Amino acid sequence: MKGKFIVFEGIDGCGKTTQIEELSKWLPNSGLLKTDSKLITTREPGGSLLGKKLREMILDNHKNNKPTSLAELLLYSADRAEHVSKIISPALKNNDWVISDRFSDSTLAYQGYGRNINLEIIKNIESIVCQGEYPDLTFFLEISPEESILRRKNDIPDRIESEGIKFLEKVNEGFKLIAKEKNWKVISASQNIKTISNQIKDTLLKNFSSKK
Ligand code: TMP
Repeated sequence: MKGKFIVFEGIDGCGKTTQIEELSKWLPNSGLLKTDSKLITTREPGGSLLGKKLREMILDNHKNNKPTSLAELLLYSADRAEHVSKIISPALKNNDWVISDRFSDSTLAYQGYGRNINLEIIKNIESIVCQGEYPDLTFFLEISPEESILRRKNDIPDRIESEGIKFLEKVNEGFKLIAKEKNWKVISASQNIKTISNQIKDTLLKNFSSKK
């Protein structure tokens, strides 16, 4: 039996990292994991060793380091190929649970809807790169692009975060369309941290309690 693969998606500043931290404290004692299963928390880009180097390259905000949209797509895809092969697939085969901060739908939202790369090209690459591993459940933490920018106003932005509000609006619209199409669990991330985390926990209990 395989483990469960849970993914968090949303625009920058939506609070994925905080919620994943909270979940990783709760999940091991929730009764959802089998006794011999572990919880692996990971992220994209940067979940594997090679991925950490790729993350630095991809997000480097130096003005001379702006890859073309196609190169950017392929770098995220290389990160994912490595991540699936070295981290996600082995963990799921071992019956462990994997929680990933972003996965392939980030590419559809950012490079597809954000950069206007043809969605069919992205889906074709995804079908090779994901190697049959797709999330059992995706949470979409939804905030407005305005709130995203406001929440990050004191941070030093990486290259993608430096794109303006127009880009974020396109990405967010993309996420909303994908969320509808793929039946994601959409949670308003403007609520307080505790309320959001309770909604996430309830959803996991509803979806997976009886299916261990
Ligand atoms: P993070 O800040 O959530 O760690 O993600 C890093 C940035 O990379 C974020 O701005 C979203 C962007 N990104 C893409 O553009 N395409 C992708 O496929 C992924 C995984 C992330």
